[in-house]
Amino acid sequence: MVDSPLRANLFDEQRVLVTGGGTGMGLAFATAFAAHGAQVAIASRNAEHLEAGAATIAAATGAEALTQVVDVRDTESVAALATTLKTEWGGLDVLVNNAAGNFFAPVAEMSENAWRAVVDIVLDGTFRVSQACHSLLRKGSNPNVVNIVANYAWGSASYVAHSGAAKAGVLSLTRSLALEWASHGIRVNALCPGVVPTEGAKVNLFPTPEMEQMIVDTIPWGRLATADEMALQVLWLAASDYVTGECLVADGGQWLAGNPFYTLGRQVVD
Ligand code: COA
Repeated sequence: MVDSPLRANLFDEQRVLVTGGGTGMGLAFATAFAAHGAQVAIASRNAEHLEAGAATIAAATGAEALTQVVDVRDTESVAALATTLKTEWGGLDVLVNNAAGNFFAPVAEMSENAWRAVVDIVLDGTFRVSQACHSLLRKGSNPNVVNIVANYAWGSASYVAHSGAAKAGVLSLTRSLALEWASHGIRVNALCPGVVPTEGAKVNLFPTPEMEQMIVDTIPWGRLATADEMALQVLWLAASDYVTGECLVADGGQWLAGNPFYTLGRQVVD
């Protein structure tokens, strides 16, 4: 956890759910919330990731995370998660829709199953979890949703078109829900993180040092992002008031300089 400019007790008595919270950025988000006093729940398809993630959170903060195996593509599995939160907590203050999947695949060769796998996790999963948590959020204090998007959501996402279409959909959903749920007292925002070298991103998107350097070369700030500094942005959005329907872009200026996925993807798959 990086030094935080936020109060250590900022999220005292707040209940936070992070999907995809067992590894990578999601785990950093959950750890940062716990470090600022929150009770956290992490959900993932993989029980081993959850166990290791909960151990990481405990070691870093002393907090005991609630864990549940969940597939955000499965409505019943998501409903079971909401039931657990209702039983354990009675309500929810912050939902972070972070679960995602991505890999390079040109549209001409992509199977429908491959398209659907990503869209079903990223877009439909965000819909399912948000909807299932709505009544819990209505019982929350300063309740809000933070959806994780990507800076190719508003331009092109060549060679990761499934992810681009899904993230664009999540951005639209963010704005739609911000208005629909304003009268329910629930804010809905998005964070667009920079490229973070998590295991998942390295394996799927830039497996070689040369490819990683190609990404770095597209970032005016001159380096990749860290999961911990992205976590602070999520906390900032979650703690704020009045901000809703916004997308906070924390990508070191990358999108202003141009999207690297076209160049990188062309090298990988063409
Ligand atoms: N490259 C090409 N196609 C892929 C792929 C890859 N790396 N991963 C999955 N697919 C295709 C599969 O071939 C399959 O299509 P098919 O049935 O026509 O063969 C379809 O996508 C579904 O694959 P499957 O492995 O059954 O899906 P899954 O539900 O187990 O996993 C993901 C889908 C996206 C979660 C998986 O690719 C994954 O674990 N990705 C890594 C995690 C990740 O993306 N982290 C974030 C990176 S930024």
